[in-house]
Amino acid sequence: MLKYNLIAAASQNRGIGKNNDLPWKLKKEMEYFNRMTTVTTSDSKKNVVIMGRKTWESFPPKYRPLPGRINFVMSRSDLDLKQYENVFAFKTWDEINEKLTNKEFQKLYEKIWIAGGSNIYKDALNSKFFYRLYLTEINKEYDCDTFFPEFSNVKTVSDPLVPKGIQEENGVTYEFKVYENEFYEE
Ligand SMILES: NC(=O)c1ccc[n+]([C@@H]2O[C@H](COP(=O)([O-])OP(=O)(O)OC[C@H]3O[C@@H](n4cnc5c(N)ncnc54)[C@H](OP(=O)(O)O)[C@@H]3O)[C@@H](O)[C@H]2O)c1
Repeated sequence: MLKYNLIAAASQNRGIGKNNDLPWKLKKEMEYFNRMTTVTTSDSKKNVVIMGRKTWESFPPKYRPLPGRINFVMSRSDLDLKQYENVFAFKTWDEINEKLTNKEFQKLYEKIWIAGGSNIYKDALNSKFFYRLYLTEINKEYDCDTFFPEFSNVKTVSDPLVPKGIQEENGVTYEFKVYENEFYEE
């Protein structure tokens, strides 16, 4: 059974983006995203990070593909990403799941991270493969044009890799929350 781990940072008004960028500059929060999505227990494996075409484009060219991770980019059009190593383009979730369940490919990756944006999160939350949501809850409202979808039927869990308590950066406070799908079946 596949396990989708969603990772997102959202403001008090559930915002996640503005003008195809993040509405905030929180360096440590970004480091948390990079650490969580990169770390593996096995040196020979990388994690897969799945994102929508706009999120991919939101990274400055020098920061993409996300290093040390296998990047999956979703688009309904033909994306030409052949110039990049460790980057794959997909048009449907079926294609993605087929790749993720391929026996040879399974030897190469450890965790599956879903990194947004809006519709990608929504699809993932509605999937039977939705396992956990790693949500950074920022205690501030921001002007946003992209939002995290509603979700329910989750319980709070803890993960030893996740720092506990209130974090503070540039006078902004936030918390790293971990939610698990109550209906996830191994
Ligand atoms: N705060 C956070 O944690 C966080 C995380 C990620 C992103 N963001 C922010 O969110 C914004 C970008 O997110 P977004 O929601 O606008 O866009 P997005 O999800 O990154 O990309 C949307 C595109 O993905 C493709 N797509 C989406 N669902 C698909 C599906 N089911 N099948 C095939 N293709 C699909 C389509 O590409 P085509 O149009 O090419 O067909 C669609 O236009 C930016 O502001 C970014 O900074 C924030």
